[in-house]
Amino acid sequence: MKEDAVPDHRTSPVGLADQVRTQGPEPVRVQLSINQETHILDIEPRVSLLDALREHLDLTGAKKGCDQGTCGACTVLVDGRRVLACLTLAISCVGHQVTTIEGLSDGGRLHPMQQAFLKHDALQCGYCTPGQILSAVALIAEGHATDDAEIREWMSGNICRCAAYPNIREAIREARGTSEEGGHATR
Ligand code: FES
Ligand code: FES
Repeated sequence: MKEDAVPDHRTSPVGLADQVRTQGPEPVRVQLSINQETHILDIEPRVSLLDALREHLDLTGAKKGCDQGTCGACTVLVDGRRVLACLTLAISCVGHQVTTIEGLSDGGRLHPMQQAFLKHDALQCGYCTPGQILSAVALIAEGHATDDAEIREWMSGNICRCAAYPNIREAIREARGTSEEGGHATR
């Protein structure tokens, strides 16, 4: 190809900015079940579950720490399994049950894991706490909370910059006991 045949975006009638504007996917309608409620959203397919929750539904309990899957602050439950909402496309949650920290309590009664976090002072700034609590709920349901070593290992995806780890483990140990006695900690 001759050099003068290469398209030049500086002089082309359709510049680069116009191309970017016209290449994005259009919003699609999705129906999400979050905390037992149905929500209809018009969002682009690339929108993460975290942004759908925080920016479109005003559910700001799930926190944006790193937005790249390394801190765990955005942890929510999908069909009872913990996922990183920043790495999950909202559109992939259609047909599944999403639980956020806002939906964990039972009609105003705190979930045993929330109660245990309060009792054991398992937080300082609180930024990581919603993710820690949801991860801990799933941890017990998974059967990965048999001892401190296991708790440490399976909670390692949830970073706490305030280093409240000893108290978090205490809270999990207590909630694990509640769960083993038939409480709703593994709901
Ligand atoms: Fe999702 Fe950090 S915000 S892992
Ligand atoms: Fe501050 Fe965990 S309580 S980051």
